[in-house]
Amino acid sequence: MSTQPAPGRGRTGDLPHFREVPENHIGRALDHASLVFHETYDDELRRRHRRALLRCDRLGAYEEDRLVGLLAAHRLQLSVPGGQLPCAGLTFISVAPTHRRRGVLSGLLEELWRHCATTGRPLAALWASEAAIYGRYGFGAATSLCTVEIDSRRPLGLRVTPDPGPLRLVDPAGAPALLGPLHEAARARRAGWPARDRHWWREQVLPEEDEDDDELGPPRVVVLGHGTPTGYAVYRTRDGDDDGTPGLVQVDELEAGTAQAAAALWSYLASIDLTGRVRAWGRPADDPLLLMAADRDQVRVTGQFPALWLRLVDVRAALTARSWAAPADVVLDVRDTRIAANHGRFRLVAAPGGGTYEATSAPADLSLDVCDLAACYLGGTSPSHLVRAGLATEHTAGAAAALDAALRTEYLPFAGDEF
Ligand SMILES: CC(C)(COP(=O)(O)OP(=O)(O)OC[C@H]1O[C@@H](n2cnc3c(N)ncnc32)[C@H](O)[C@@H]1OP(=O)(O)O)[C@@H](O)C(=O)NCCC(=O)NCCS
Repeated sequence: MSTQPAPGRGRTGDLPHFREVPENHIGRALDHASLVFHETYDDELRRRHRRALLRCDRLGAYEEDRLVGLLAAHRLQLSVPGGQLPCAGLTFISVAPTHRRRGVLSGLLEELWRHCATTGRPLAALWASEAAIYGRYGFGAATSLCTVEIDSRRPLGLRVTPDPGPLRLVDPAGAPALLGPLHEAARARRAGWPARDRHWWREQVLPEEDEDDDELGPPRVVVLGHGTPTGYAVYRTRDGDDDGTPGLVQVDELEAGTAQAAAALWSYLASIDLTGRVRAWGRPADDPLLLMAADRDQVRVTGQFPALWLRLVDVRAALTARSWAAPADVVLDVRDTRIAANHGRFRLVAAPGGGTYEATSAPADLSLDVCDLAACYLGGTSPSHLVRAGLATEHTAGAAAALDAALRTEYLPFAGDEF
């Protein structure tokens, strides 16, 4: 990332200056992150974070030679309806406790927008530690995930007959080659997923240790079918407690080409000996499991949370790159207080074969904030819903409904990869 002087602001005078964090500063970047996130990195986790940072674009806020703010960006290809787009996958966003609320994060993001423009990334995305932070910067919650729990102290009741094909456990090291095609197919169905290379599979999907729960065992990969799998699950287990709390199966990922294959995998996970609970922490709200469960007291949604926060850094590039489910011709009045090129009135002509988006002086049919447009972009939120919530204003009757139909996707967007 390039060096940019920042405008002066703040309690004690000028902002720090922003520049790329060179490779030989990664050690101090990790010290900074561990301070800010109140975490102690053991040697293995430190090595893993180091490998991740090496592959990211890294931007630092420096006061003289001291690092006081950090932002890193994975170079992602994010699936969007009908294709994929380059996306800055933000991580390690952190400002030193001594430098909070002085505009450091705002300065880092200003720099990031410039970096996205020069590197051709129309999207930026992140998983937020606190939901209140990012709306002001134009990020909208574009995917919503559920935590699903199965009481597996009794056999799982399903209304679908499980695929009787063989199940086998495979070495996680061989998983990327074996599972890659199934994952790619799933990614084409559901917008919001980053493409994965071997590194991403190993570090983000199949790390040896679960970062949030060191009592969970290593990742296990089970696949269904002879030869080319028709489905797979990645899971970890934890032993029960002496007080009678049953052992746990934590499902990190489950993808299946058919309902019967999904039924076979869920049945397997719910029947592992010495466990009595299955917890799938990040499932899409339209997971077929919720319909195929014979007893919804046995399969319960225990939580729902915004997952991927999306920023349309270049609204025009983003809207003209996605596919559309139905034609629409609407003038949008978009409010973007951070990126001037996105702000104003634009005519969107959407058609199943593609769309155009050009500045116009015509009156607006629908007004909305750029963060709410981002929430709609992958198909997870509808403009009509925004109008009902008082977050968008419809000036022409039917405009929101036309946009709903155009934005609609067959599957809800989904991204289980937390970064
Ligand atoms: C969150 C964090 C990066 C913000 O950095 P910062 O330099 O203090 O932010 P800024 O001074 O640029 O503040 C920008 C705006 O966001 C607001 N804001 C910052 N942190 C916020 C929070 N946790 N909740 C709500 N609003 C917040 C500020 O009030 C300010 O609002 P304004 O522009 O309307 O005045 C910093 O507090 C931090 O490192 N926190 C701990 C780590 C963390 O939570 N990182 C985010 C991981 S996704």
